Amino acid sequence: MNKIITGKNVVKTYGEANVLNGVNAEIAKGEFVAVMGPSGSGKSTLLFALSGMDDVSDGSVMFCDTELSSLKEHELADVRRAKMGFIFQQPTMLKNLNILDNILLPAMNAGKKDTAKLLQKAKALMKKTGIDGLENRDITEVSGGQLQRAGICRALMNEPEILFADEPTGALNSKSAEEIMDLLANLNEEGTAILLVTHDAKVAARADRILFTKDGNFVFELSLQRSSGMDMEARVEKVLAQMAAVGI
Ligand SMILES: Nc1ncnc2c1ncn2[C@@H]1O[C@H](COP(=O)(O)OP(=O)(O)O)[C@@H](O)[C@H]1O
Ligand SMILES: [Mg+2]
Repeated sequence: MNKIITGKNVVKTYGEANVLNGVNAEIAKGEFVAVMGPSGSGKSTLLFALSGMDDVSDGSVMFCDTELSSLKEHELADVRRAKMGFIFQQPTMLKNLNILDNILLPAMNAGKKDTAKLLQKAKALMKKTGIDGLENRDITEVSGGQLQRAGICRALMNEPEILFADEPTGALNSKSAEEIMDLLANLNEEGTAILLVTHDAKVAARADRILFTKDGNFVFELSLQRSSGMDMEARVEKVLAQMAAVGI
């Protein structure tokens, strides 16, 4: 079983509108897949459907060999907390907690009790992502890039098998964006699968594969396997050409 996520004929309807029109998607364990497409083409909806954050109107989503719709609500919440991490354009941190406590929250919510071990893990993640020293800062006292790093630490606290990222660099300047992508690429090298939505060709060019969406379905798949030996510039060129062809 080497698939971590399998979406079969996934349909999502809001009222009269079919936002996802029977999407088939497979993400392999450890794979890095990017999703690109025009605004409103259903990218975020797809991420929510494939991560079980939102239910689907028809079709099925499997995490490894578990059909998400077969799970009770608390079982689904457990799978999401233990196996999946989420990163958004703006991390939604709690205002009344400092950076460290925000990072610790998912582990606390998962019922983990060994506080010393959790603290050690949170601090190690903060060091790894370059925000050690900011433990006691208020979330309003750090930069956008630092807050996003904290969001990544939070997403990694429970050692997820897959990270879902919805435009994680969308609010960052290009230097911060590149640093965040270096981090995500490292995590992927270490084995974490990534499904990432982006508008940025440089960000998407890091992926193994790019899925292009239009009107609620995939219209093209671009393979950028690392083994192909292309340098980053050539990869970005390929992505830009495909974006133009798809009309993004
Ligand atoms: N909760 C919702 N209720 C109604 N319509 C929604 C909802 N979420 C998304 N939509 C609609 O679904 C379409 C796709 O949205 P979204 O997945 O956010 O697109 P993207 O992320 O590609 O910009 C849009 O037309 C949007 O208005
Ligand atoms: Mg979106």
